[in-house]
Amino acid sequence: MTIFDKFQSLAATRAALGEQPSNPFDTVIERVLSATEAQINGQPTILAGTNNYLGLTFDPLCVEAACAAVHEQGTGTTGSRMANGTYAGHVALERELADFFGYPAAIVFSTGYLANLAMLSTLQGPGELILLDADCHASIYDGCRLGGAEVIRFRHNDPADLDKRLRRLGDRAASALIVVEGIYSMLGDQAPLAEIVDVKRKYGATLMVDEAHSLGVLGERGRGLIEQDGVEDEVDFVVGTFSKSLGSIGGFCVSKWPELEHVRYAMRPYIFTASSSPSIIASTRAALSILNDRGAQLQQQLWDRAHRLYEGLGGLGFTLGPESSPVVAVSLDESKERALALWNSLLERGIYVNLVMPPATPSGHCLLRCSLSAAHTPEQVDKIIAAFAELRDLAFAEEV
Ligand SMILES: Cc1ncc(COP(=O)(O)O)c(C=O)c1O
Repeated sequence: MTIFDKFQSLAATRAALGEQPSNPFDTVIERVLSATEAQINGQPTILAGTNNYLGLTFDPLCVEAACAAVHEQGTGTTGSRMANGTYAGHVALERELADFFGYPAAIVFSTGYLANLAMLSTLQGPGELILLDADCHASIYDGCRLGGAEVIRFRHNDPADLDKRLRRLGDRAASALIVVEGIYSMLGDQAPLAEIVDVKRKYGATLMVDEAHSLGVLGERGRGLIEQDGVEDEVDFVVGTFSKSLGSIGGFCVSKWPELEHVRYAMRPYIFTASSSPSIIASTRAALSILNDRGAQLQQQLWDRAHRLYEGLGGLGFTLGPESSPVVAVSLDESKERALALWNSLLERGIYVNLVMPPATPSGHCLLRCSLSAAHTPEQVDKIIAAFAELRDLAFAEEV
């Protein structure tokens, strides 16, 4: 008996997937050519699974800001925000994020995962309640677990089910925290936020929205689903990440409550980890300024590509998520071997997408998850559709 025995089943699951030339867990991006292209397995490949929604990873403003920060401030802060890691850039970014959302308070974290871990583990603890949409991201579940609050899951995107569960709580409902996402990362569907806000208001509960996949993607100014649905005044906390539309790494929480500032000093995932390096903060600030200046144009381009892919793949007969979105997920059956073979067929055709397998998928089915970027050209989107078309003929022949 060794400490590694318990991992044997994982190794066995991997082995059972059979022999395929590549698998998504070990795929190396050998050379990055642009926001939408890379070299993988020696061949040029269209990146269609990056969450680089606005395509800003190579934007000259962001790149130059990052380079200048390295030269001026060095490669890392080498400390946590509360020890030696709060630089002027962290404070400036917090102010800019608060201004962007029109809220008084903002906190920056080293990753989006840590933002959820910190906020959820700190806002509610043992004996307190968090109600989660069942499809919430792992970082939300992990934050709840770290804080020890009682967790109640409600059916995905079902305000009536949320209402029912809050009603059962009686007086406790008023102190509960509800957590939903803007756009859900696996199927690209949006929360029915206005209805969720109605339920929250009815019981006097508190609401947090994770806009990881909707910042820069929804709302006239790119503020996410809260802006699109006009509920900014009703939402208590917005969390998000810099690793998608803003093209860097990091996370944030903003709030209409200035008291968010008191929470800062109680969050272990904020206190006990190093702060983001100056280059990260600088490129994120540049990306946020781009969002302010030409976010609407980028968003329009992104949605154009998204609709093109959604309609193209839908027209081929694939089962997709419930609505057109920059996340376009092709739903397969339960067979992991088959899904891996299809994923390989796409890669051989120079298309990289995300392979997602149960239990990480909401339905128990495997997904070939594509994500679009404003930087994709219409021709690249057509190549993605053409590759799926060939794959349908070759591999789905007996199914569709
Ligand atoms: C909804 C949601 N929240 C949080 C995160 C974590 O963000 P990050 O990868 O920037 O740590 C993700 C990542 O995919 C996400 O999808």
